[in-house]
Amino acid sequence: MSDLINLNFTVNGEKKHIKLDPSMTLLEILRNILKLTGTKEGCGKGECGSCTVLLNGKAVNACLVIASQLEEAEIITIEGLGKGEEIHPIQKAFIEEGAVQCGFCIPGMIMSAKALLDENPHPSEEEIKWGISGNLCRCTGYSKIVSAIEKAAKER
Ligand code: FES
Ligand code: FES
Repeated sequence: MSDLINLNFTVNGEKKHIKLDPSMTLLEILRNILKLTGTKEGCGKGECGSCTVLLNGKAVNACLVIASQLEEAEIITIEGLGKGEEIHPIQKAFIEEGAVQCGFCIPGMIMSAKALLDENPHPSEEEIKWGISGNLCRCTGYSKIVSAIEKAAKER
């Protein structure tokens, strides 16, 4: 283990001041230290997208980001999308379109969709497919996921 470093960053709008091993991954920090277990661990090596979160507004694989990159960063996880008891419109569209089966890939998929729609509020089907191309789903065959993102874009 490396020497611990002091870090300041924000998660879902809450400021954090924590001493951490600089080589710890953002995924470990979220799940094991901050207990934000909505972000899922699949492959642990940047291939499946199940750990996708927003880092300074961009979708990243949390398993590939290390603590030393987090000073002054703003992180949004799936837990930070809704408002209080109200779920986010993208989450609502996923439910309404029946785009969720086992659910394991869904938090990461929704965070990629959020990053896409923030940058491009009216994406084409091709742009949606490209936007979620780093997120693997074993269950749905993707078409309902694409429909859900189209629906969320229309209803924004
Ligand atoms: S767990 Fe991070 S990309 Fe698979
Ligand atoms: S819903 Fe099961 S992996 Fe996507």
